[in-house]
Amino acid sequence: MRVRFLGHAVVLLEDIEDGYNVIIDPFITGNPKYPNDFKLPRIDYILVTHGHNDHLGDTVELCKKYNPIVISNAEICSYLQLKGCRVHPMHVGGTYYFEFGKVKLTPALHGSGIHDGENTIYGGNPCGFLINADGKTVYHAGDTGLTKEMELLKNVDLAFIPIGGNYVMDVDDAIVAVEMFKPKIVVPIHYNTWDIIRADADEFKAEVEKLGVECRILKPGEYIEF
Ligand code: NI
Ligand code: MN
Repeated sequence: MRVRFLGHAVVLLEDIEDGYNVIIDPFITGNPKYPNDFKLPRIDYILVTHGHNDHLGDTVELCKKYNPIVISNAEICSYLQLKGCRVHPMHVGGTYYFEFGKVKLTPALHGSGIHDGENTIYGGNPCGFLINADGKTVYHAGDTGLTKEMELLKNVDLAFIPIGGNYVMDVDDAIVAVEMFKPKIVVPIHYNTWDIIRADADEFKAEVEKLGVECRILKPGEYIEF
């Protein structure tokens, strides 16, 4: 499995179980950090942490192109079903075994309204994702503030956590989060996309490495291979 960072909070899991491609929070159009020279592979599953546009992103367009299954909370799934997407609704705390692996929805402290034209549609509870595939555990925290629930995470091989502040954890809180569950590798996300979420990833890296956790600062398009 190859786990690729595509800017902001976009993560692509490529070639899981010999062939499934799974994208998390596919914010492509309008994402200032998306690596435009990267050619997206066929997408089999889309995981959406919450309804904000920098996460829901290009989900509908990708559904039209690849007809994947979208995994998200029930409210976002209802919305997407009306837009013609194939969906698999879940909720925080729920686990399900898909053909590519096991997915659990983890708690996130955030909002989830879907901005559709002039309307904001109720988008249920935001979440993160804990994915077990190819013998590895990958955690994508979604957008979240610091939460004690992270203490319940166990044996995480690779964690993507937000550090940009303002809407989500800042560097200081993200360090506390890492201390709670000590993933093998942590990758900071959701920072420096815009000025309002400026953060110093090098400071984050220096501090978490003092805790014995490896930190990889990935440029958009770079990946980690298991
Ligand atoms: Ni958000
Ligand atoms: Mn966001």
